[in-house]
Amino acid sequence: MPEHHKARIAESFGKAARRYAQHNRLQQQCAAMLLHRLPKRLGVVLDAGCGPGVNTHALSVRAATYYGFDLSAGMLAQAQEQFPQYNWLQGDLEQLPFAPESFDHIYVNLALQWTNSLADVLQQLLRCLKPGGTLAFSTVLEGSMAPLGRLFLRVTGHSHHNRFLRRSELLTYVQQVIAQTGVFAACSPKFDTEYIGIPYMNMRDMLYDLKGIGANYQPAGRARLTRKQLRQVEEDLECYRETDGLLYLNWHIGFVSITKAIA
Ligand SMILES: C[S@@+](CC[C@H](N)C(=O)[O-])C[C@H]1O[C@@H](n2cnc3c(N)ncnc32)[C@H](O)[C@@H]1O
Repeated sequence: MPEHHKARIAESFGKAARRYAQHNRLQQQCAAMLLHRLPKRLGVVLDAGCGPGVNTHALSVRAATYYGFDLSAGMLAQAQEQFPQYNWLQGDLEQLPFAPESFDHIYVNLALQWTNSLADVLQQLLRCLKPGGTLAFSTVLEGSMAPLGRLFLRVTGHSHHNRFLRRSELLTYVQQVIAQTGVFAACSPKFDTEYIGIPYMNMRDMLYDLKGIGANYQPAGRARLTRKQLRQVEEDLECYRETDGLLYLNWHIGFVSITKAIA
């Protein structure tokens, strides 16, 4: 992904920073599930792709030192305003500015799907981890944003979301990274996937949440949805209303933890 795309992704997230916590039901559920994959005491912990500091409290109460790291200056400003006592750093997960073995544990909730090369990023994250430490991350997988993405595809010819990794691709990347890097040969990955449905009254509320967390960046050149197309998708979505009267936006999420071997 070219640098100017990243600048626009950061801008899009930054604009959402103040209201993020009103729209992050999916992220909250995943955050809680991911937290269980880390030990009780975290020592020096890195929260990579930390957003507006929504997981800062939960991580910092278990840590001796907390570092929040994110691409978006707007997200970091919001985080720093709430938690001025912690360490906040702006940067790109694909060019981590940390020395090897800087952190006891690393936590990355729903940020890696915005990077170009998961394998490269995982390698960098593992390099920053101390032996005996755990890298725990969650990421969005193929099958997510159903049925909305499929309806967009039918009506406009485009799903209007990023390409998400297949479950098998994620597993392969994780195994490759561990195998390629001799130092990590004895790492033990734990791998699970979950389907999580977030209920909504209507399609507009679904779209508000996607925009509300800042995940609405569309590369230049992709045609914007017309009102007519939106109305069509809204109409088609009605046949997916569940017996509880609600519409669900379904996500397929991968949860991985890798504990770095002590040499
Ligand atoms: C969906 S939010 C998740 C925020 C938070 N981790 C949570 O649990 O709610 C994704 C975050 O990843 C950040 N991000 C996206 N691409 C990034 C990159 N290349 N490097 C660092 N952060 C990135 C965004 O700025 C945003 O704050």
